[in-house]
Amino acid sequence: MTEMLKLRDLDNTAFNPFFEERFFFGENEDPYPLLASLRAQNGAMPGDYREIMGLGPDVTFPTGIPHFMILSYEEVTRALQAPQIFSNRAYTFNIGASFGRSISTMDPPEHGRFRRIFQKIFLPQYVKKWGDSIVDPVVNDLMDSFIGTGRADLIQQFTLHYPFGVIYRQLDLPPEEGKLFHKLAVTQTLVSFDFKHGSEANAKLGEYFPKLIEQRRRQPGDDLVSLLAQAEVDGEHLPEDVLVSFFRQLINAAGDTTYRGTSILLAKLLEHPDQLALLREDRSLLPNAIEEALRFDGPVIEQARWAAHDVQVAGVVIPANSIVHVVAGAANRDPAKFDDPDRFDIRRPNANRHVSFSAGPHICIGQHLARVEMMRAMTAILDRLPNLRLDPDMPPPAIRGAMMRVPHHLHVLFDPK
Ligand code: HEM
Repeated sequence: MTEMLKLRDLDNTAFNPFFEERFFFGENEDPYPLLASLRAQNGAMPGDYREIMGLGPDVTFPTGIPHFMILSYEEVTRALQAPQIFSNRAYTFNIGASFGRSISTMDPPEHGRFRRIFQKIFLPQYVKKWGDSIVDPVVNDLMDSFIGTGRADLIQQFTLHYPFGVIYRQLDLPPEEGKLFHKLAVTQTLVSFDFKHGSEANAKLGEYFPKLIEQRRRQPGDDLVSLLAQAEVDGEHLPEDVLVSFFRQLINAAGDTTYRGTSILLAKLLEHPDQLALLREDRSLLPNAIEEALRFDGPVIEQARWAAHDVQVAGVVIPANSIVHVVAGAANRDPAKFDDPDRFDIRRPNANRHVSFSAGPHICIGQHLARVEMMRAMTAILDRLPNLRLDPDMPPPAIRGAMMRVPHHLHVLFDPK
């Protein structure tokens, strides 16, 4: 008989991690004018991105080492594609503290060995079929809960929950523990500024996953845990610490970023009713609208790298052992790449050239899944919420953050079904 696995809650069961991250990611309303003025000075310069944005330091980084920022599209894409110079060692400090030996902390050739295995599962041919079997049911179940009322906070009642619901079903975990799982998945990432709760969530997820892997090896199903638990590299199972780190990262990366991306797209369309009307008239614009939202205000503004050697970028010398902030948010609004970059335009011809999923060997593994999820969620919204508009009696959406972005509320009205 299969042993029932139990995930343990935080000792302080009332702790609510959602939106705590604003202390770490910032509450900046619009970081783009500052980024534009810096990028206009030069494509790279000394400076700590967090400090420039008025945030406290990332306490997990070693102190006393130089920080640099890369800002232009040309230099950002070049840096992301040069892992031998711009190493992901920078993530051993913060992502490493949250997730352990994650592929985000690795460099070639180790990175490629493990990434190959994980990547296979998220190739377009696989994730496409999850659209019908997993994404649509999760999306529609959530919508059923408010569709009769004619009003909703689309963030709190919808976008915050649906991507986590999708990954949770893919892992085939018990539905009754979904809320607790989501809470611990978010809490584990707070380790850089709330060590107590962050490390407690880490420990509790850390004791759960090895037991789950062991159980699924004995009795495999067709879920992601079973698939990865049986996967092999060079004739051996994946090392347990790498596998556990991947699951920890997955429940977070998959749940958190797509929620942000969908929320920003919705906020932008509702703030620009002409663009929403265009989309309603011609649904074939939806894929490009998704790319444009990711470009215009991508959920992840900055990637960290570690200079493995002395290097010169846009004429600036970056010495070995510096932290390098590669600012995707600045590259995505570079006028040298995108015409009139501060305009949200769902018909922009080169919207998909953004670097919101990064570039190079660490480019987001989940990008195809994220696109399927955003397509399905937006299609359901356009189909099921006629006459969707901002609620004039409630505060308008306010996208916030300097590291990660999202609006915390999106109050809408629609014709109830
Ligand atoms: C709109 C949604 C998403 C955005 C904007 C996003 C963004 C990113 C970015 C910027 C990176 C690269 C960081 C770097 O260069 O070091 C990344 C990596 C990653 N993402 Fe996503 N992501 C999204 C959705 C997802 C989903 C749905 C999954 C789950 C399948 C996922 C899993 C991962 C993983 C595992 C990595 C690490 C890849 C590696 O280091 O090789 N992401 N993501």
